[in-house]
Amino acid sequence: MIHRPRRNRKNAIIRDLVKENNLTINDFIYPLFVSSEIKDKQEISSMPDIYRFSAEKILFEIEECLKLGLRSFALFPHISDNLKNNEASESWNSKGLYLTVIKRIKEKFPESFIISDVAMDPYSNFGHDGVVENNEVLNDKTLAILGKMALAQAQAGADMVAPSDMMDGRIGYIRQFLDTHHFTNTSILAYTAKYASGFYGPFRDALDSAPKFGDKKTYQMNPANSKESLVELNLDIQEGADIVMVKPALSYLDIITQFKQNCNLPIAAYNVSGEYAMVKAAGQKGWIDEKRVRDEILLSIKRSGADIILSYFAKEWTLDNV
Ligand code: PBG
Repeated sequence: MIHRPRRNRKNAIIRDLVKENNLTINDFIYPLFVSSEIKDKQEISSMPDIYRFSAEKILFEIEECLKLGLRSFALFPHISDNLKNNEASESWNSKGLYLTVIKRIKEKFPESFIISDVAMDPYSNFGHDGVVENNEVLNDKTLAILGKMALAQAQAGADMVAPSDMMDGRIGYIRQFLDTHHFTNTSILAYTAKYASGFYGPFRDALDSAPKFGDKKTYQMNPANSKESLVELNLDIQEGADIVMVKPALSYLDIITQFKQNCNLPIAAYNVSGEYAMVKAAGQKGWIDEKRVRDEILLSIKRSGADIILSYFAKEWTLDNV
């Protein structure tokens, strides 16, 4: 035999020398939930070790992460039902929970990188990502709201806005709206290929944001489709996205690789709530070695082509590895 691939695996040193992919703390964005409905913090039952934080407590959490070297955060709001309506008007209320929290975080921790969520569902009485009329989610009426929401977040100090709604044309609309108001430096992380997925269940528990009727299949992508993700990719590139994202990550590694082969922008992947919950649940039952599986999953996302990983494991991984 001329080739014996096992020679490159014979001890830890040579294995490290030939290692093709590495995770680093710089790869991670940590999603955090802020809630007006609780004091201190409250664990999300379907997401062990993940909490809804009060406006006060989230500052402590961010401080703790910054000390560990984890610097990027994707923030999601949980608000009272009586503030929800079909215009998501609470989303641009500068005195509301979300915008005041963004402002306070950036004042207190200017070294943090804050990514805000642009979508109507946490503020919508219908739990949908768009304006609802006659049981339909309207695209173009929603754009105006997303623009207002993104601008309010940029004004509050968000470093990057992340439209997670899947309305057509929203990247271009938001880019133009921000630029017109002189927020040319606010970046856009586009949820480019966001699939209609069962893996979002625990997240909707966390925000009480499940759709009140129907599902999200008229705007989120069909899990059966691959080529269609390139239609979305080309649009988001043309419309001015700074980073493009695939979501969920694990069942869509092929889509991440396809993005890598078809664009030169940085690629993010969202290791979503259901992916986290499955690992935690099996770990708690003693059915898998949780940390080993966690690291294997995170590495697979990196290996498939993602430059950036949004993951609920970010802090835990950091505590174990830095
Ligand atoms: C909605 C939104 C969702 C997630 C992020 N933004 C869920 C949905 O589309 O219903 C899911 C994230 C996760 O599951 O971790 N704008």
